[in-house]
Amino acid sequence: MNEQQRKQTDQIKQVAPSDLKSETDTNLDRLKQLDSDELIGKYFQATYEPPNLKKARKRLKKTADVHYDFGIPEEMNTLGKGKKFLIRTYGCQMNEHDTEIMAGILTNMGYESTDNTNDADIILLNTCAIRENAENKVFGEIGHLKPLKLEKPDLIVGVCGCMSQEEAVVNRILKKHPFIDMIFGTHNIHRLPALLNEAMLSKEMVVEVWSQEGDIIENLPKVRKGKIKGWVNIMYGCDKFCTYCIVPYTRGKERSRRPEDIIQEVRHLAAQGYQEITLLGQNVNAYGKDLDIEYGLGDLMEEISKIDIPRVRFTTSHPRDFDDRLIEVLAKGGNLLDHIHLPVQSGSSEVLRVMARRYTREDYLELVRKIRTAMPNATLTTDIIVGFPNETDEQFEETLSLVEKVGFESAYTFIYSPREGTPAAKWEDNIPMEVKKERLQRLNALVNKQSAEAMKQYQGQTVKVLVEGESKKDPDVLSGYTERNKLVNFVGPKSIIGQIVEVKINQTKTWTLDGELVEQAVEVK
Ligand code: SAH
Ligand code: SF4
Ligand code: F3S
Repeated sequence: MNEQQRKQTDQIKQVAPSDLKSETDTNLDRLKQLDSDELIGKYFQATYEPPNLKKARKRLKKTADVHYDFGIPEEMNTLGKGKKFLIRTYGCQMNEHDTEIMAGILTNMGYESTDNTNDADIILLNTCAIRENAENKVFGEIGHLKPLKLEKPDLIVGVCGCMSQEEAVVNRILKKHPFIDMIFGTHNIHRLPALLNEAMLSKEMVVEVWSQEGDIIENLPKVRKGKIKGWVNIMYGCDKFCTYCIVPYTRGKERSRRPEDIIQEVRHLAAQGYQEITLLGQNVNAYGKDLDIEYGLGDLMEEISKIDIPRVRFTTSHPRDFDDRLIEVLAKGGNLLDHIHLPVQSGSSEVLRVMARRYTREDYLELVRKIRTAMPNATLTTDIIVGFPNETDEQFEETLSLVEKVGFESAYTFIYSPREGTPAAKWEDNIPMEVKKERLQRLNALVNKQSAEAMKQYQGQTVKVLVEGESKKDPDVLSGYTERNKLVNFVGPKSIIGQIVEVKINQTKTWTLDGELVEQAVEVK
């Protein structure tokens, strides 16, 4: 991003006066006692806009500028020599992947990673804003880190991710947690070296959040978690503006990566021996709509299906943009797995309308019919919100009936949580919590029943499992996922970790399958 573009972007660039930050506990105490409103008013030179629907909707529908020139300035290459970092990640796969990028940047600066808070010289909280409880977890962690920071004033504590894109959160941190050293947004990750340098050298509190964005930074370094499964961003942001959702504000407008950049990344992962990739985006079915070429997710998947990588997944699909071309490509199978995560949110057309999902119950069922016709064995999973403002008992019953009708094999289910700045947050949250909880319980009971039934069909069957490692509960047991994303536990040699093996299922549970290794039985002896 050049200087002019930077000026054009809305940004918070806030630096507290240097005497406010000090290496001594005394000064930290002084900092805590300051009147924070005054602090914000005086030093917070924000030209930054809070989440604003009207303004956000006026985003330019243009192809994003792509930058291939990321580099860490030479003087910062050794900034982290002998030092360690720890990144705590909350939220979705996007955030997990952003953490891999931040880990890549920090590693290139000479830092090593650690799992131990006490060993860390930098602690970053990569946060999620999707529901109130996600935010509460982060504020809890910030509270826990305070004594450590007071004990180790040189420790750098940073808050990044989706919460830092919210004005109210930034203000709350300034007001209640002034010991935090840096806050940066989801569009500022590539600025990490410069921001860190600023936070360390000047000992000032640094806040940099761009709320209007538009660029794609291509060649950011990554340290991936594991060598078996890899995430590949195909697009950023979301333009759907579902009325309950904060993501279009925290992640910005839809920007598709150029197909050649995605394909190159997938080829590279294949060459490194990765067995599975997941293509990532908040609304992957809108892939390509912003590009200056006629090219969609179906075209991309078709090209990726030709690459020698055993498994390709994609998430998250939006029913509205799921087109016939994609169904046709997916139906060819090969390395494209027939597990489709297709969030429905509600089974009532009226609730879907006020959620601004832009499809009806009937549209959704028709899409499911098309998918099932083309891929009779496809597994469908979903996301559902209960207790949306004004949701009646009857409308909730429609959700239950849709879950049964589609036969989802699992679902992420949530109680509606109002998010400041979204349209729904202005409506009365009028469903009592006990009703919301009861609806959630009934829904979960149904989903669990369907999941257990789906699992039973695997009894005695042989499935292909990508072995990921030791099971979390028992180091003598290996675990991995089937093509349809079922977790399988079985006994086998550690040497098969990272391979796809055949496992015969001999016991089915609600969420997992137990089995025995078929293919490698000779090797086990
Ligand atoms: N882009 C994806 C979803 C991303 S968020 C999609 O459109 O499907 C993951 C899930 O969180 C959503 O599918 C929704 O079910 C849930 N969610 C989002 N905002 C929420 C809110 N305000 N309250 C409760 N659940 C919410
Ligand atoms: Fe949020 Fe998904 Fe809707 Fe986008 S499509 S606004 S990410 S729920
Ligand atoms: Fe959370 Fe941001 Fe993902 S709000 S769900 S981390 S896009």
